[in-house]
Amino acid sequence: MAYQNWMIEKDDDDICWLHLDVADSSTNVLSSAVLDELNQILNELAQSLPKGIVFVSDKNNGFIAGADINEFTHITTEQQATDFLQRGHDIMNKIESLPCVSVAMIKGFCLGGGMELALACSYRVMCDDKSTRVGLPEIKLGIHPGYGGSVRSILKAGPVAAMNAMLTGRMLTGRVAKSMNLVDDLVPERQLKRAARYFVINKPIPRPLGIKDKIMNHRLVRPLIANQMRKTVAKKAPQQHYPAPYQLISLWQKHMDNPRRMLEKEIESVASLVTNPTAQNLVRVFFLMENLKTQGRKKDFDPRHIHVIGGGVMGGDIAAWCALRGFNVTVQDQKPEMLAGTMQRSLTMFQKKFKKDKRSIRESMDRLVPDTKGVGIKQADLIIEAIFEDKNVKQTLYKSIEPQMKEGAILATNTSSIPLEELATCLKDPGRLVGIHFFNPVALMPLVEIVRGENTDEKIMNQALAFGRHIDKLPLPVKSSPGFLVNRILMPYLLEAVEMVGEGIAPEMVDKAALNFGMPMGPIELADTVGLDVCRSVATILSKDQNLNLPKRMESMVEHKKLGKKSGEGFYKWVKGKPVKDKNASYANLKELEDRMIMRFLNEAAACLREKVVATEDLIDAGVIFGTGFAPFRGGPLHYIHAQGVATLSNRLDELNKLYGTRFKANEVWDSLGSG
Ligand code: NAI
Repeated sequence: MAYQNWMIEKDDDDICWLHLDVADSSTNVLSSAVLDELNQILNELAQSLPKGIVFVSDKNNGFIAGADINEFTHITTEQQATDFLQRGHDIMNKIESLPCVSVAMIKGFCLGGGMELALACSYRVMCDDKSTRVGLPEIKLGIHPGYGGSVRSILKAGPVAAMNAMLTGRMLTGRVAKSMNLVDDLVPERQLKRAARYFVINKPIPRPLGIKDKIMNHRLVRPLIANQMRKTVAKKAPQQHYPAPYQLISLWQKHMDNPRRMLEKEIESVASLVTNPTAQNLVRVFFLMENLKTQGRKKDFDPRHIHVIGGGVMGGDIAAWCALRGFNVTVQDQKPEMLAGTMQRSLTMFQKKFKKDKRSIRESMDRLVPDTKGVGIKQADLIIEAIFEDKNVKQTLYKSIEPQMKEGAILATNTSSIPLEELATCLKDPGRLVGIHFFNPVALMPLVEIVRGENTDEKIMNQALAFGRHIDKLPLPVKSSPGFLVNRILMPYLLEAVEMVGEGIAPEMVDKAALNFGMPMGPIELADTVGLDVCRSVATILSKDQNLNLPKRMESMVEHKKLGKKSGEGFYKWVKGKPVKDKNASYANLKELEDRMIMRFLNEAAACLREKVVATEDLIDAGVIFGTGFAPFRGGPLHYIHAQGVATLSNRLDELNKLYGTRFKANEVWDSLGSG
């Protein structure tokens, strides 16, 4: 029988090679159609059993990327979720209980449901190359493995290693997966088929769990380890916001003595999580990210050489990041000593990224060339300017470099606040200027704002978006307007926090209120980290157009050189890079503090929608989540407004307006949000 997604190949040794090549999809995912066909195939094979079955991917981008996340979005009740999961379980159980050997031959990504299928096989052989990774990343979508993977990974790798992999959701290299016993063999690509065949024919006895793992799995030991795991998880993911890791830990703690029962309970646990708002919002965030990725099409731009001007905090890191992503980069600064610093920092970045892979470190260093004279200007396809935030200084530079630039080369500025229209006035071809606004620290922040000035050519805009993808960032198209999207939305929230400290509320309590909402870092700690001078200058620029008052407290701190982390003291004292916090600080009504900050944040997000700073609600939510870390499990500020109810929140704004003043006045857009 012919299948749409699978192809059955039988060889002379009576081995059945089951090729997966999901129709109409660039990636193999375990959609309902794929699983239904697999079910039929397994029934068919049970009639005339081969010596063994080998699962193979015919896609060159990976084995199986996971379940079809699209299908999650159609699940609305726990019963639907249970049925969905039960079908997957039935198929995995069928594979596991086949009377013949089964092998997963893994090349490329093997994640989530794909890894669970591999774990249901008798053996797993894995390709030893850079692009092959395995993992169980479900936790990032607010669930945990639901096709039997939680049980089978623990049975193979032991509780500590397997739980760690599931709780972090990280991808594992072949070396790590092999050492954990998640895969049975790791071989170069040319030997992969031979290895799969070897396992079918020889059926070696799988490595059993070690004595230590058996002890850890013991009924009396599990509660102790489970508590330790809960404490570790709580540091990053509080239970009220992220229930999945806690449910996974409890599942193991309660049911490991009886793996069959644990499989059944896994379904119950995941079914309750899938329908929970956290998972639904994290799935939403996944799609928002995919949407950002489609904003830039790599084929629109094929730059070879990037020239960065300014080797300071931002320029240095931008240059290093571009070299790390494979571009030839020259980096220029008027001060040679800045370039020495850039090279040193770049080496640190490469070492962090590539760890022991000395070759990649050396190759990245070779691609990055300090250039005191600006020799790279003539060769560059893209010039990124990251010099002082001063219009005149920037324009003087532009005037001197424009005549040297290659035809068609792009000039991009990393300015945080100067309108592109103003900068472009000095250019002969103002259409070639675009904003590529990186966030600090460049290596960690996934978002780049791609800023369209009034004069920016459409082609240049598309090329800049494409560049965002080439360097593996998420490019967000934004209109050139003060603060663009991210800084503009962040600033009222930060200033409200500073205002509250000015009222005598402990910074620790202000930060705690924001953490309670789900922000990754409190605003006061954030302000100290960014630098109060930087905050003040962005706020000053924004205050020209917005209802923003610079808190006196901030002014005076900057005057007294209390700039935050970099000067050793800001709102907090900083010791060894960490803020010293008063553990005894208290405040009776944290919810009020939370509301004051968050409502200003939401109001500004709504204003950006009205002014079309970014084209759609989804893009605003995406930009804010990836640019500020806004509580991802809430699905973005505009989504949060809809989920809470427009009327409820705009009433709250009115109350705050009466209590604290007009900075809480609801933006006009709230009325139209209600009708949306
Ligand atoms: P910085 O002061 O650390 O570095 C600026 C560098 O530019 C200095 O090394 C200086 O020697 C060099 N420079 C100045 N004029 C030059 C010229 N004519 N030719 C060659 N080199 C010159 O500044 P930072 O923080 O890196 O900011 C650079 C730009 O990035 C600014 O436009 C800023 O608004 C923007 N930005 C800054 C962020 C931050 O967190 N610091 C975040 C996002 C954007």
